[in-house]
Amino acid sequence: MSQLEKLFSAATEAKKNAYAPYSKFAVGCAVLADNDKIYTGCNVENISYPCGTCAEAGAIAAMNLDGRRKIKEILITADGQDLIAPCGACLQRIAEFADSATLVHLADTQAVRKSIKLSELLPFAFKERSLQS
Ligand code: THU
Repeated sequence: MSQLEKLFSAATEAKKNAYAPYSKFAVGCAVLADNDKIYTGCNVENISYPCGTCAEAGAIAAMNLDGRRKIKEILITADGQDLIAPCGACLQRIAEFADSATLVHLADTQAVRKSIKLSELLPFAFKERSLQS
């Protein structure tokens, strides 16, 4: 199994655990970190809607919990008809631990359909240097 297939399969497994009773939209995410380990997450909604968390947030938190700070590649898969791209907040979360050239793989239920550089999804990210006066 290729690394990309492993990422897809890990994200698909994670998606099964999505808690999405309100949107009924399950999302799974798999992060390949710089130690070549895969960390996964799923969306976890809440009756107080803004308290819900995205799949990407869960996967990135799991990576950090294991002491890793660098995303090599990231894959997102969802159950809907259309491909989804990470939401704006999640692009910012990804940017914190990735480079502009980091590949973001977008998958439907069957396979990866698009692999796109983070810089194409978030061309003008708010970075640490933005804080320097
Ligand atoms: N969602 C994610 O998990 N990741 C995204 O990048 C987009 C949206 C989730 C949040 C919510 O639980 C559901 O999809 C519908 O918005």
